[in-house]
Formats: sequence, C-alpha cells, structure tokens
Amino acid sequence: MTVCEYRPGLEGVPATQSSISYVDGQAGILEYRGIRIEDLAQHSTFLETAYLLIWGGLPSKVELEAFEHEIRYHRRLKYRIRDMMKCFPESGHPMDALQACAAALGLFYSRRALDNPVYIQKAVVRLLAKIPTMVAAFQLMRKGNDPVQPRDDLGYAANFLYMLNEREPDPLAARIFDICLTLHAEHTINASTFSAMVTASTLTDPYAVVASAVGTLAGPLHGGANEEVIDMLQQIGSVENVRPFVDRCIAEKSKIMGFGHRVYKVKDPRATILQGLAEQLFEKFGQDEYYEIALEMEQAVSEKLGHKGIYPNVDFYSGLVYRKLGIPTDLFTPVFAIARVAGWLAHWKEQLGENRIFRPTQIYTGPRQQGYVGIEDRPQIWDKQFAAPSV
Ligand code: SDX
Repeated sequence: MTVCEYRPGLEGVPATQSSISYVDGQAGILEYRGIRIEDLAQHSTFLETAYLLIWGGLPSKVELEAFEHEIRYHRRLKYRIRDMMKCFPESGHPMDALQACAAALGLFYSRRALDNPVYIQKAVVRLLAKIPTMVAAFQLMRKGNDPVQPRDDLGYAANFLYMLNEREPDPLAARIFDICLTLHAEHTINASTFSAMVTASTLTDPYAVVASAVGTLAGPLHGGANEEVIDMLQQIGSVENVRPFVDRCIAEKSKIMGFGHRVYKVKDPRATILQGLAEQLFEKFGQDEYYEIALEMEQAVSEKLGHKGIYPNVDFYSGLVYRKLGIPTDLFTPVFAIARVAGWLAHWKEQLGENRIFRPTQIYTGPRQQGYVGIEDRPQIWDKQFAAPSV
C-alpha cells in the first residue's frame, strides 16, 4: 500500500468514487447526474431533482406522480414526536432541534433492513417528507403555538412556507423557494455529506446518517454561514462601512462569511442564480435593506481577495432570498438541511451499493513508552480555575 502525505482537511484527497454530482471549481460548473444546475433551476422541481439524485435518472410522469404522492402521504408527524418537540427549550437553535428530531425518527421506524429496496424507499420518503414539517413545527411551537398541519393540495415548497408562515404563499415565492431547494440539494463530498457517508459506512440506520449530517452542516464554516452572513451585513450597517470592515477582516485574518470555497475559485454558480432570484423577489415585494451592502461586499472582496480565488459562495445571497420569503434568520441553515437531505440520501444509497467502512489512518505525534506517574508527582495540566471543585 502506498503511504500518502498528510493533507489537512483532506484537501484534494479523493475519499470516494461517485456518479451523483460534478463540480468544476475553476470554470464554476455544477452538474447533478450530468445535468447543469442552471437547467435544473429553470426546468425542474425540487422533488424531481431529489428523485434524479437518489435514483440516478429523471422520473417518468407516472414515477414522479407516485413519488410526490408518497411524500405528501408521509408529511405528518407522529404526535409523540410533536410531544417530544414541545419539551425542547424555545431558546435552543433550530438546527439542534432538527438533529434531535431526525435521530428520533430512528426510534419510531426502527426496523433496519438495508438490503431491502422497500425499506430504502420508505426511509427516503419519510425523511424527505417529515424534515420540513419538523422545521416548521419547531418554529411555531417555540412561539407557543400549535404546529400547522401540512396541506395535501400544496406542493413541497409551497406547503413548507404555508406551515411556517400560516398562510398560503404567493406562487412566485413558492416557485423561488423550490428553486432554492434544488440549488442546495447536493454538492459532491462536502463536510456534511462526508459525515453522512462515514456514518452510513457502519451500516447504521438512515435516520442516524441524516442526524450526523445535520450536526455537521450546522457549523459556521459550512451551512451555518448563511445565518452568519445576515448577522454580518446587519453589523456592517451601511455601504460606507463595507470597505473598512473588509480591510479589518483581512488585517485580522478573520474569515468573511459567505465567501471562499474549497473547490470553487470563481463565483459559485449557485450564488449567481440565488442573486437573480433575490432580485426577482425585490422587484415584486420591495428591496431588502441589506442588498446594497451585499453588492458592495462582493465588489470589495473580489478586488482584495479575488487573487486568492475568494468569491461569493452559495451562502452569500441565500439569506436575502429567505428574508423575503418570511423565513427567520436562524431557520436558514435548517432550510439548507431540508434540501440537502436529498444529497445525503443519494450518497447513503450509493455508499450501501459498494460499502466498506471508513477507517483512515493517522500520523501519531505523541510520546511513546511513558512510565505511569503517581498522583503526587504529576504536573498540573488543568487551569487553576477548573482544577478547583465547583460549588
Ligand atoms: C458551504 O464544500 C462544500 O461544497 C460546501 C458547500 C455545500 O454546498 O455543501 O458549498 C456549502 O459550506 C459553503 C461555505 C460556507 N462557509 C463560509 O462562507 C465561511 C467562510 N469561508 C471560509 O471559512 C472558507 O473559505 C471555507 C471554509 C469555505 C473553505 O476553507 P478552506 O478551503 O479550508 O480554505 P482556507 O480556510 O484554508 O483558506 C485558504 C486561504 C487562506 O489565506 P492564506 O492563509 O492562504 O493567505 O483563503 C483565505 C484564507 O485566509 N480565505 C478567506 C476566506 N476563505 C478563505 N479569507 C477571508 N475570508 C474568507 N471567507
């Protein structure tokens, strides 16, 4: 076996073979199963795209109708899951609530039959169907309200907005939200998908796979950046403050949220589409107070960090779209998760097809052959403040 050099963050190290999606980071190209993201955004729907990702091809009319029907049928939550959610603290982050709920599904649907296609199909349907209901239910419950039941006459995206905002969405808003889901559905072997694949490789259940991926997506270097972008734009406050802010970040070597990507060295194609969607919404429903600041940020960061390949990523403009759709800031990352469940499940299914447990190696850097030291002779390691017993 060849011994490879250590690459922090596994940069450039292939960890799998996959036929699900393709990224060309120099040309700014993203394809799902060979189809350009721009074409899917224009012509497809999220559920059709999810089918494409998970089952490897676009569905026929009959297949799509059956898939949509199954999802509609499974949207409701068991009352015990709703009861469990009622006990969550309302100050808790919705991503933590979602992770707990995804894991809890494993308690209710516990029969694990990974070699049975019907089990796989049912797990896919349940997760795609129930995750949006969970996100919307937590939002209403933390405000002290009963969750709104899903409506069978509404499509996937429209139903989520209805459950969240307690009113039927404008058709343009629903279509734009559906496109957002398509754009976020899959992105090769990103951190949360890798997490899902590692968990899947132990042959555990799909609910544990999705729960581990939700936890990974939550961090600010990954999906959590969309929430941080809005906080950053709010903190900057005006177009005049943008350049001093960017200069300060560069001087302090702090990361500017919504910019940079391990693979893309040009503007993320999803950011371009999301920016266009935001503009469509502004035209119909009015401008967002942060948009001018965002435009100036893109200009300033491109000028100052473009030579390092740092441009807007998917998380930069998505929040501006979500704000216009009435989605609260701390639900931006759960909304990302609603979409990414499709990609996680596609990789789960692919992983099961040719599974070998993930078990990489490490380069040990600690001491060896140390003698055991008696308690009286040990140096202090903990800070004094922690070493004292708490009262
Ligand atoms: C997502 O992987 C995926 O596909 C993820 C995703 C998906 O769909 O699943 O696309 C979704 O996670 C988007 C990324 C969201 N995160 C952020 O917006 C947080 C801000 N961005 C970064 O912290 C950063 O760019 C990452 C985490 C996205 C990528 O990190 P890398 O590849 O490890 O890059 P790095 O941190 O080692 O930076 C390389 C250089 C450094 O400069 P030098 O030390 O070489 O001089 O680029 C600089 C960094 O300082 N840099 C930035 C920067 N990102 C990189 N400088 C300022 N601001 C930034 N945002």
